Amino acid sequence: MADEKTGILLLSHGSRLDDGEEVIKAYKEMYVEEFPDMPVEYGFMEIRKPGIPETIRKLTEENDLDRIIVVPVFVAHGLHTKRDIPGLLGIESDYEEDDHGHHHHHHDHDEEEVEFDGEIILTDPLGVDRRMFEIIKDRVSEHL
Ligand code: NI
Repeated sequence: MADEKTGILLLSHGSRLDDGEEVIKAYKEMYVEEFPDMPVEYGFMEIRKPGIPETIRKLTEENDLDRIIVVPVFVAHGLHTKRDIPGLLGIESDYEEDDHGHHHHHHDHDEEEVEFDGEIILTDPLGVDRRMFEIIKDRVSEHL
């Protein structure tokens, strides 16, 4: 484990506006600042580039990686984290499609496939955390 080379992908939803990219890029830069030897990229699951396969290609072209840890920078699990992101990463998902015939509706049908021989680990989203609660309280108190 210790001598395995790990890369990190910080994954944001993707938007036509720039705000989301500014945020995820800032987190990437914080990561690089704290862990200068760790290969880190950010990318988007839909709507905006770079997408997942492109970002993984960039990580693996520049580094000989054994595994990639993908962090969905989302507040909670949803269909994107349970179904769509595992699908785009080409990894197993414990999400079971109901039998009402819902179709996957990825926005990027022309997207290339992920090509990576190593292990891809998809973490949980941010979830419930006291540190997030502190931010929520800050946002409220800015207006009190
Ligand atoms: Ni979406």
